[in-house]
This record gives sequence, structure tokens and C-alpha cells, in this order.
Amino acid sequence: MKSLTLNQLSKTYFDPYKGTQVTALEDISLSVAPGEFVSVVGPSGCGKTTLLNVIAGFLPESGGSIRVDGRPISGPGPDRGVVFQSFALFPWKTVLDNVGFGPKMRGVGREARDAIAMEYLQLAGLAHAAERYPAELSGGMQQRVGVVRALANEPDVLLMDEPFASVDAQTRLTLQEELIRIWLDRRTTVLFITHDVPEAVFLANRVVVLSKGRVMDEIAVDLQHPRKWDDLIENDRFKSLSARVLQRVRAA
Ligand SMILES: Nc1ncnc2c1ncn2[C@@H]1O[C@H](COP(=O)(O)OP(=O)(O)O)[C@@H](O)[C@H]1O
Ligand SMILES: [Mg+2]
Repeated sequence: MKSLTLNQLSKTYFDPYKGTQVTALEDISLSVAPGEFVSVVGPSGCGKTTLLNVIAGFLPESGGSIRVDGRPISGPGPDRGVVFQSFALFPWKTVLDNVGFGPKMRGVGREARDAIAMEYLQLAGLAHAAERYPAELSGGMQQRVGVVRALANEPDVLLMDEPFASVDAQTRLTLQEELIRIWLDRRTTVLFITHDVPEAVFLANRVVVLSKGRVMDEIAVDLQHPRKWDDLIENDRFKSLSARVLQRVRAA
């Protein structure tokens, strides 16, 4: 289990239409402890995707620093696994080969990587789909494979940007419960980005509210694990935490 530490991180874009700089992130200082699950929530345009892309190393920061397990990062690396809203699976590869792709890139041989991929597919209840192709799966299953594929790299930190936003509401609840179950098993350090307040609260140990590129608030989520929607939907603590986060997001 590894930590993620952001210190006074900032990001500005050049807006070619206005000919000016746009500040997307400003002075973000945030630590995710080893094995902690942190949600980042905020309205559209507050800088969530920018934050994820900078941490992933896909975009250079304009100032400040990012450390994984104390090491400064420069560019993308296998220490950070990324899951996006779009599935981004290889359509010509089976589920097994999609999940084994990361280990393959690290030079792991066929037998060993099939075993790794199978272990993670089993963890997500997807072993039966190992030989199928992405197009043969529902959207929810594809996204599940996307999560498992990121985990099969055994990243120090898992970065997720609205991974369940494009699946139907029913499936989303199931995926959230599964993600909790997998996280409890693996205890990967997670930074989970969403604009969905109940999702942010349901999943996280701590919710960070982002407003106009700045950290506006941090709210600890002291709910027991494992978390199930059937239990939490009527839970007073869950309701009051969600209301508090929602107020902060609306004020953002
Ligand atoms: N490539 C880009 N060039 C210029 N401005 C950008 C670019 N990407 C995002 N922005 C701006 O940065 C801000 C944050 O965007 P984004 O990180 O996508 O927010 P969110 O994911 O929270 O909706 C917005 O004002 C957006 O218009
Ligand atoms: Mg976004």
C-alpha cells in the first residue's frame, strides 16, 4: 500500500480562443494515505478531470509536486492505474487478454499473466467471461473489466475518473458495491473522481470537495464496511453526510 501526495499542485491551460491562460487547478495540497479511498467531488468544470490527468502524468503540472510513495512522478507510469468513463478495452482481445495486457507489457509470460488475469477476473465475478470479446459484454461488464484490467497491474494508486457515469443507475449501484468489495480485499490506494455525491460518500473514507480548481472542503466518512446500498439508503449517518457534501458542492 502506497501513499499519494499532492503539494501545492497547479495547472493552467492556454485558451487559444481568448488568447489567455485558464487556471484549472490552483494550490491543491492533498494526501491520500496508503490503502485509503478518497473521493473527489465537484461541479462540472471544477477541474476534476484535469486533476486526474495531471496525477496520471498525461498532462504536465504547471507548479507544485506529485509523489507516489514519496517518489516524485514524471510522466505516466505503471505505479498509477487509470480507469476512465469510456471503456477503452481492446476490442480485438479477449477479456482475459485485456486484463493480462499490463502484465504482458511488463514482460510476464503467457502462463503467469493468464493466472494473474484469472485471479482478478475471479475477484470481480467475471471468470466466466474470460474468453469473450468486449463487444459481447454489456456496458456494466465492460466497465468492470476496465477496473479489473487496471488492478491487474497492481498499481500503487488507482485513479478513477467517473468510471460508472455511463452505465445505467441500477448497474452503477452494483458496480459501487463490487468496487468496495474489491478494495476491501486489495486495499489499493484509490483516488475516485465523480460528480455524484451519494457515490462519493458511499465509496470513500474521505470526500474532497473541489471548487474552481481549489480544495474547498474535506469531509471524513465514518461509515462501517462492508457497505451495502440496502443498509445505507436509510442510514441517518449516510444521509447527513451526503446532505453536508451536497451543500458544499452546491456552494462551490
Ligand atoms: N485542454 C484544455 N484546454 C483549455 N482549457 C481546458 C482544457 N481542458 C479543460 N479545460 C478547462 O479547465 C477547467 C476544468 O476542466 P475539467 O478538468 O475537465 O473539469 P471537470 O472534469 O471537473 O468537469 C474548465 O474550465 C475547462 O474548460
Ligand atoms: Mg471531468
